[in-house]
Parts: sequence; C-alpha cells; structure tokens
Amino acid sequence: MEVIITSSYEEMSRVSAKIIASEIRKKHDLTLGLATGDTPIGTYEELVKIHQEEGLDFSKIKSFNLDEYVGLAPLHKNSYNYFMRENLFNKININIANVYVPQGNTEDPEEYCKWYEKQIENCGGIDLQVLGIGRDGHIAFNEPGSSFASRTRVKALHKQTLEDNSRFFSSIDDVPRFAITMGIGTILEARRILLIANGERKADVVAAFIEGPVTSQITASALQLHTDVTVVLDNEAASKLARTEYYNWVRDHKHLVQKMVGR
Ligand code: PGA
Repeated sequence: MEVIITSSYEEMSRVSAKIIASEIRKKHDLTLGLATGDTPIGTYEELVKIHQEEGLDFSKIKSFNLDEYVGLAPLHKNSYNYFMRENLFNKININIANVYVPQGNTEDPEEYCKWYEKQIENCGGIDLQVLGIGRDGHIAFNEPGSSFASRTRVKALHKQTLEDNSRFFSSIDDVPRFAITMGIGTILEARRILLIANGERKADVVAAFIEGPVTSQITASALQLHTDVTVVLDNEAASKLARTEYYNWVRDHKHLVQKMVGR
C-alpha cells in the first residue's frame, strides 16, 4: 500500500486528480470507479480544471459509481446520481451513455445488482477505483461485518452512517436506511485502487485500516489484500499513523523506489 501524506485538502485533491488523469492518459477508454461524499469534491474540481485547461479527454471513459440510496430516483436532489452530475459529469465531456450509477428506485434490487455486476464485467472490469472511507471504516456502503467476498447488493446502513449523512437531509429520519452498494469482492477486483481521506475525524479509522489488522469490522482493511492501492491523505487524516516517517521517505524517493521495485 502506498501512503501519500499531503499538507492540506487542496493538495490531497490535486495529487489524487493527477493520479486519475495520468491513468486516463495511459488508457483513453479507461473504466473508472467513482465515489461520492464530501471527500472527492475537490478531486472532481481538479479533474474539471485539467479537462478545461489541458484538454483531458473523457469521451471514451466508462464509469461505475460505488453506491446509491435505495428509494431515491436518479433526479432526486439527495441521490448520488444527482451528486455526480452536479460535481463531475455535467462539467466534462463524458458520454452519459457510458455512465453507470446504481438505480436507487429499481423495482427488483436483487436482479438489478446482478445486472450491474454484469455491466462491469462487460466493460472489462474496473481499471481504477476511487474510494472514500466512512468513520466506521466502510468503503462504498460496506458496513462493518460485510463479507470480503460480497458483490453488489442491498445493504442496511449503520447508525453512525445515518448520522454522518443526515447533514444532507432535513432530518435523520429522512436518510434512507438501505443502499445498493458494490461489494468488497467487487472492489478488490479493480486493477488499481485510490483511496482518499481528509480531516481529523477520519484519523482513527485511517490508522486502523492501514496499520491495524485485516478485519471485516473495518471493511477498508480488506485493501491490505490488494497489490495496487494508493492512499492519499491530508495531514489531519494522517495524524494517528505510526509509520509516517517511512511513508514520507518512500514518497520523497519515488524515483529510486520505482527503479528498485519496478512500479
Ligand atoms: P465523506 O464520506 O467523503 O462525506 O466523508 C465518505 C464515505 O462515507 O465513504
């Protein structure tokens, strides 16, 4: 796991956008896994800037979002579909026909989840998956106790997640109790993973998933089982890590490290 500690939310956003842009430049028809939440907003702003100023081309990109609230229609203001259009899709030249966000108001969630997995497969699998992390350690909506073998499915949300996400709704009772989410098994099949986190409130869980044991109680710790994970943090989210000196040495000697280990 590569851990890059940056000095601020802005720098975290710039570094992560550069990683995504460089993957798109390497493969113009990349399949990109996307996340929602406060964390990636700055990264998406930076990507829009790179698109506008440097002509980064999204026209052949396919994208799959991690999750969506059950019961919310794509046009609902609190849906993740709406979030993605507002923060990214409407501002770049992505072909909307190549965009997949789980449909929260589907009639048959079980069948729909199978279909969603099939679309990922038909697109050749996810090349780069962007992730945030919840305070309970979730990636996507894989709440504590989720199986590491799980696929896209409906998951009940934990109380802490409902509380954290209630800021977007008029009250906690309005937050949907269920979400459609890619599984841990789905996420681990992505060829490369980029997790971003910022702020002091994420510091404990960031230390736990990077330096603690692999456990389904912190589902992000499953990323320790993947061979190509980059974590980009601001200094607050990194503040409880024990091996900071090592991560910084590797970051500052990137050319040497790449020469030695070949990546
Ligand atoms: P946040 O959510 O970016 O709004 O903190 C992250 C998550 O719950 O995965």
